[in-house]
Amino acid sequence: MRGVVISGSGLYQPPQVITNAELVASFNAYADLQNAKNAARIAAGELTAIPHSSVEFIEKASGIRQRYVLDKTGVLDPTRMKPRFAPRPDDQLSLMAEIAVDAAKKALAAAGREGKDVDGVLCAAANMQRAYPAMACEIQAAVGAGGYGFDMNVACSSATFAIEQAANAVRSGSAHCVLVVNPEITSAHLEWRDRDCHFIFGDVCTAVIVEAEDRATSTDRWQVLGTKLVTQYSNNIRNNAGFLNRCEDTDPDARDKTFMQEGRKVFKEVVPMAAAHIEQHLHALGFEPTHVRRYWLHQANLGMNQLIVKRLVGQEVGDDIAPIILSEYANTASAGSIIAFHHHRSGLQAGDVGVICSFGAGYSVGSVVVRRL
Ligand code: COA
Repeated sequence: MRGVVISGSGLYQPPQVITNAELVASFNAYADLQNAKNAARIAAGELTAIPHSSVEFIEKASGIRQRYVLDKTGVLDPTRMKPRFAPRPDDQLSLMAEIAVDAAKKALAAAGREGKDVDGVLCAAANMQRAYPAMACEIQAAVGAGGYGFDMNVACSSATFAIEQAANAVRSGSAHCVLVVNPEITSAHLEWRDRDCHFIFGDVCTAVIVEAEDRATSTDRWQVLGTKLVTQYSNNIRNNAGFLNRCEDTDPDARDKTFMQEGRKVFKEVVPMAAAHIEQHLHALGFEPTHVRRYWLHQANLGMNQLIVKRLVGQEVGDDIAPIILSEYANTASAGSIIAFHHHRSGLQAGDVGVICSFGAGYSVGSVVVRRL
């Protein structure tokens, strides 16, 4: 079987930041406006007043301190509470493709590759901007890649699931060099008016180059030792937005048409699932969890990551073993574990083993075990 490496990564980070203080101020202004508008119904007991959010709660419950977004003004406007994006004509690069191309070019440069070297493009993200043509085809054209492109969505596990598809394509010889790109415009599917989740997500795009080991020229090569994917159906993270909505005559702005979750249940159910998954994967490859030099985990909740690694290695660990990026980026859906990999791999030595692992809606868990060459 042909060896496979990850030979470069790239990150697009939007220039606008929303701090927790700014976010909470705008949410509380929104709540006050709504409560004033509905004062009579609230007084009559027909409606419950919207309670205020708090920075202390957000930081204690999640570890998130800020997030990057593509449009801050729309999100923070208490009369709007969502980003504002100008529609683009069909002959212009679409927004999702634009951030994807930025991250892709950086990943290509890091791998010492050009667009023409790529013969497979996987656009893997929790949401796609349109039904078709595939985002991947637009990105493929914009970077000058050959071969084929397709979109895939496994929510927060989209990146690791796509890396497995890319690694399998390279192993089997159906592609030599695959661009995996994760444009996550999470601000567009987050319900900024819901106190329970308004702090969760941030926008970003990550990209990695997956290619044949015998062809790779990058000095920063990570051999893919194995990939392992699992899914188990759950409604605890759900978003009902879809192409049937207009035929169902439902409100396109109804609460179920954006991200919804039972956060506590997700926490309780996904921690043991992800820890067991990583342990089984490592054992199958002949490693113990304590042999792993670095865990680049999905970034949804600080406590979740700490508990998963504690289950694996038997003690609390710091950033050197399991780096945290969600305090700065928040949850960036499928991009989180790749941001961690992008920012926190330079200190590792040849032979060091690391695990990229995502977990999220589905439920879905995907792990990629890599060794530095
Ligand atoms: N500000 C102040 N208080 C808030 C609040 C806010 N923004 N949001 C919720 N609260 C309140 C709740 O109403 C609740 O009050 P009550 O006890 O009086 O009912 C209390 O704080 C606790 O809420 P809860 O939802 O149980 O908090 P939590 O400790 O479970 O933390 C999450 C919430 C979402 C941060 C946490 O559950 C989580 O991150 N889970 C994992 C989610 C995940 O990984 N999802 C994957 C997505 S891809």
